[in-house]
This record gives sequence, C-alpha cells and structure tokens, in this order.
Amino acid sequence: MRKVLEVKNLRTHFELVEGTIRAVDGVSFQLNEGEVLGIVGESGCGKSVTAQSIMRILPKSAKIVGGEILFWNQQGAMDLTKLDSEGEQMRNIRGKDIAMIFQEPAACFAPVYTVGEQMIEAILLHEDMSKQEARRLALKMLEKVKIPNPESVLDRYSFQLSGGMLQRCMIAMALSLNPKVLIADEPTTALDVTIQAQIIYLVKQLQKEYSSAIMWITHDMGVIAQISDRVAVMYLGQIVETAPVKDLFRNPLHPYTRALLRSIPRLARRKKKLEAIKGVVPDPYNLPIGCRYHNRCDSFIRGLCDEREPTEVEVDVAHRVKCFLYGGR
Ligand SMILES: Nc1ncnc2c1ncn2[C@@H]1O[C@H](COP(=O)(O)OP(=O)(O)OP(=O)(O)O)[C@@H](O)[C@H]1O
Ligand code: SF4
Ligand SMILES: [Mg+2]
Repeated sequence: MRKVLEVKNLRTHFELVEGTIRAVDGVSFQLNEGEVLGIVGESGCGKSVTAQSIMRILPKSAKIVGGEILFWNQQGAMDLTKLDSEGEQMRNIRGKDIAMIFQEPAACFAPVYTVGEQMIEAILLHEDMSKQEARRLALKMLEKVKIPNPESVLDRYSFQLSGGMLQRCMIAMALSLNPKVLIADEPTTALDVTIQAQIIYLVKQLQKEYSSAIMWITHDMGVIAQISDRVAVMYLGQIVETAPVKDLFRNPLHPYTRALLRSIPRLARRKKKLEAIKGVVPDPYNLPIGCRYHNRCDSFIRGLCDEREPTEVEVDVAHRVKCFLYGGR
C-alpha cells in the first residue's frame, strides 16, 4: 500500500503564561491509501492537536516545534510543517487534498447561508467549474450520503436540520472534492448509538468508493473496533501502541491499552459498571519523568519506569509498543 501521509516525530507545544503544554510530543505514524487509522486515547492526550497540526489550523498559542508531516500528491512528497499555514499551497491542500470533519457540524456551517450555498462555495474554491455544475456535484454528494429530499436540503439552513442530518451534510461536503486524506475528529460522539453506527457504515462504504485514507479520532474503543484497519493509542502527547485492529483487540500489549479495553461495556460479561482507568491523568504542565503512564500502571517497575522513558519496540509485524515490559531500554 502506498503512503499518503507520514508524521515523523511531531512535536506541537502550547506556550502559555502558566507554562508549556507539550500537547503532541514525538508522535510518528503513517497513513496508507485506502485505510482507516483509528487514533484513540482519553481526553487531553493530543488527538485533536495532532489533527490541527496536519491541517495547519492550530490556535495562535500553539507551535509546531519539531518533526515533519509528509504528504504525497502528484508532485511527490512535501513537508506540511514547512508551508505557511495561510499561504496558497496550504490553502489548496486544506479542504481539497486533506479534508476534515468535526464533532460539531455547526462549526462547519454558518447559520446565515444555506447548506447548498456553503457546499457550492467550498467546491468552487478548489474546482474550476460553473455554479450549476457545483450545485449538481453538491446534490450528488447529498444523495451519496443518503439524505432524503436532497434538493430541498440544499436550500435549508443548518439550524433547520437534525444533528445526524447535518453530520451527513458535512461528510458530503468533505468528500465532494475527493480528498486523499479525510480526518474525522470524533464526528459521531454527539450522536445516539444508532445514528452513530449508520454514519460509520456510510463512511466505510464511501471510503471504498473514493479510496481516501481516513484518520478517525475517538476516545471510544467500541467505535475503533467498528471502523479501523489499524489503531494508534495515544497517551499524554505520545503514541504508546500501534497495531492492526485485530491484533490490538486480541493481544493488547501496553498496560494503558489494556485498561482502555477493560473500560468497554461488554454485555456478555454482564458487568454492571464500566471499569474506570485507575489514577489521575498527570498535570499537562508537569509531565512525569520516565514513562508517562507510570503513576497509573499496574506493571510499574520501580527504578526503571519512573526514571527512564521507554523506546518503541516492534513486537510483531506492524505491532509496536512503547513499554519496558517488551524491551524498550
Ligand atoms: N487552545 C488551547 N490552549 C491551550 N491548551 C490547549 C488548547 N487546545 C488543547 N490544549 C491542550 O493540549 C492538550 C491536548 O489537547 P487535545 O485537544 O489535542 O486533546 P484531545 O485528545 O483531542 O482530547 P478530547 O478527547 O477531549 O477532544 C491538552 O492538555 C489540552 O489542554
Ligand atoms: S514502561 Fe513501565 S510504567 Fe510504563 S507502561 Fe510499561 S510497565 Fe507501565
Ligand atoms: Mg479532541
């Protein structure tokens, strides 16, 4: 499979008066054509900041302080960290080559224009076509995401549509330019489970048709199981385990991944409560020395885990983990 995106040792930090937050701190992964990479981890682990770094839409207080984000298109590989975030090259890539969908579609559609006007504008920004052609493309995309009465939806305002419907419009808009990479940042979190499952099914169908590579961000291991081919588990700004989805569920290695998996509700086990992951997430201004998970880890080795940081080890084909239990010294 061909690589479309490769993030190498990315570091994105927030410089605030209170101190420095190392939101993304040495993250590396690659995304291949036509695959879904799930990124999972608890709130605050750096999933969105990773996505915002790739799209170059970071808040002003954040800065990419190291690493590379290589993106392949017809001209070959380019390092997105080297581009001006507001320059022409990045504006051409954003939305066309790399598109993003969010948890809140309201953030994507302004209330003062119709959904159709906004979809057409987004298409015309990148494609050389007439308004009529752009409208036809928008309509075709709404049909693809299975919106009933797409013609009338084009003329509605975002506040006139349900959350699930708007989410479909956002997916239609993101896919209308056939992006090489689609970044989905918790797009189904606010939806009920049935609509969430429908949207996931829909995106998988469309992905086969468009062969886009997808980076699907979530804190929900259940969603990861439904959508991903490969998974990267993040903890406090770092990826601690990467594996094909089946391997991760059958043979989770990192103590944090195991804890995340224990927190999925399993009807078969008839557990009354989800098992919460023990311990508190450390203060992001004061990251622990050694392994960042050591204050919460069941397998903590004193004198090692609290003193040195483990390196990443490849334990099986494409299954990598950052933990002393598997080497990493
Ligand atoms: N605008 C901001 N200003 C200051 N700190 C921020 C900002 N955005 C994110 N951070 C910090 O960066 C770290 C990573 O945040 P990020 O939003 O990437 O987490 P996340 O994994 O997406 O979490 P969630 O699951 O809640 O969306 C956190 O410590 C967060 O507090
Ligand atoms: S390196 Fe040590 S503290 Fe960190 S996850 Fe592995 S065993 Fe636990
Ligand atoms: Mg987030």
